[in-house]
Amino acid sequence: MKGSIAREVLIKSDVFVKGWQFDRVLDNIFKNGLVTSKGERYKKDKALLSKYFTPKNIKQSVPDFIRNTKVLMDKHFDGSEKEASQDVSNFFLHLTLRNFFCFAFNFDFENLTELKNEITDADIDHLVNVTSSGSKTIGQAMFLDLPINSLINPAMRYLHQELPRLYKFMEDVCEWHLKREARGIIVDNCLDAMLKSGHPREELYGQFTTIISAGHDTTGYFQAYTALLLAKHPDVQKRVKDELREVLKGETITEDNINQLTYLQCVFKESLRYYGIVPFLPRLANRETMLGKIRIPSNSNLILAFTNMSFDEEVWSDVWTFNPDRFQEIPSLQSASKGYFPFAYGQRVCIGMNMANIQSIVALSMLLQKYTFVEEKSYRPKFTLSLSLTTTNGVKVWLKQDEE
Ligand code: HEM
Repeated sequence: MKGSIAREVLIKSDVFVKGWQFDRVLDNIFKNGLVTSKGERYKKDKALLSKYFTPKNIKQSVPDFIRNTKVLMDKHFDGSEKEASQDVSNFFLHLTLRNFFCFAFNFDFENLTELKNEITDADIDHLVNVTSSGSKTIGQAMFLDLPINSLINPAMRYLHQELPRLYKFMEDVCEWHLKREARGIIVDNCLDAMLKSGHPREELYGQFTTIISAGHDTTGYFQAYTALLLAKHPDVQKRVKDELREVLKGETITEDNINQLTYLQCVFKESLRYYGIVPFLPRLANRETMLGKIRIPSNSNLILAFTNMSFDEEVWSDVWTFNPDRFQEIPSLQSASKGYFPFAYGQRVCIGMNMANIQSIVALSMLLQKYTFVEEKSYRPKFTLSLSLTTTNGVKVWLKQDEE
């Protein structure tokens, strides 16, 4: 599908709706959560949750994002130069999970005094693995789906087996929240809003499993590929470091600095163009329509290849060059005129767009104040079929500690 056609499909969001025929596959994990829900249920949940995903509200979690980044930098990189390159995707996936739990539940894995069942580092690793395996398994099933997939596909079986454990953990988190509330600790967050909405608990667990999964591999790999691209482009990395020195003056980032890091934001946008985190999206034509000269019958299923939009030579020059400067004139994270939609478009645009952006600014700024990413020459990403653009061999770069 040509980039211009894919763009048209995305923009005509009243005609091309989410491909409900994929519900059978997606519902395995996304239950009736925001990614697949529709009608009144969708409207109600979207209205309830959207107010928490505004830049203003997310910025309140910046101190948590900073603390999580510090904790994990110590755990993963140990403050010293390592003998080997690091799999930064592992670091960013753990960070994304912790950030989400702080943002949505005010739940900090490092400070769990009142949780019913103790959580170990192995449990957190398990959470990260189950969440990632959801995205991979569903992505594969979308292309290779058979009605008996859930019985014969070992990855799908693993997911079915492990989801109850995730739900059990969600139950513990809810009880933990309610216990604190009874002691007068009142917080206004996504969890509190969902608990007060009257949703049955199973639906609530499904909703959060959905949002965690939708934001996990996407944000984790996006940050990891950005580190990889910076390692491959030392000139760009130097400009980011210069900007950090100029704006932050050696201090840790605060919510007030976020909008001042304009070059870093261009790097993010170009990273999302270069490594399209959501490579394809299913859409369904809800009535007969024309796409250019092609007649599309009602009920047609389409797969939109995002890469074709991001590498469309009619829109972008030097498409294979990593050039953040091309985004100096595109201020937002989307651009309808350029056909740049890493977070999709219209009513079903990604709810976590600002969350992904703000936590990535915090993490990358902190890492780049301490380390320089250096390319591991022998590393080539082995991309795999998934809902998000993930790899089977991590994302490897060297982290060289900067001199004081
Ligand atoms: C770089 C990071 C991310 C990228 C590239 C991304 C991309 C996307 C895209 C393309 C869609 C549209 C899917 C469709 O129309 O079928 C989407 C939807 C969604 N995303 Fe993200 N996403 C990212 C991060 C996040 C985060 C951090 C969260 C939440 C914490 C999140 C939650 C969601 C949800 C709930 C939806 C469904 C929205 C709806 O249908 O109304 N995403 N995302």
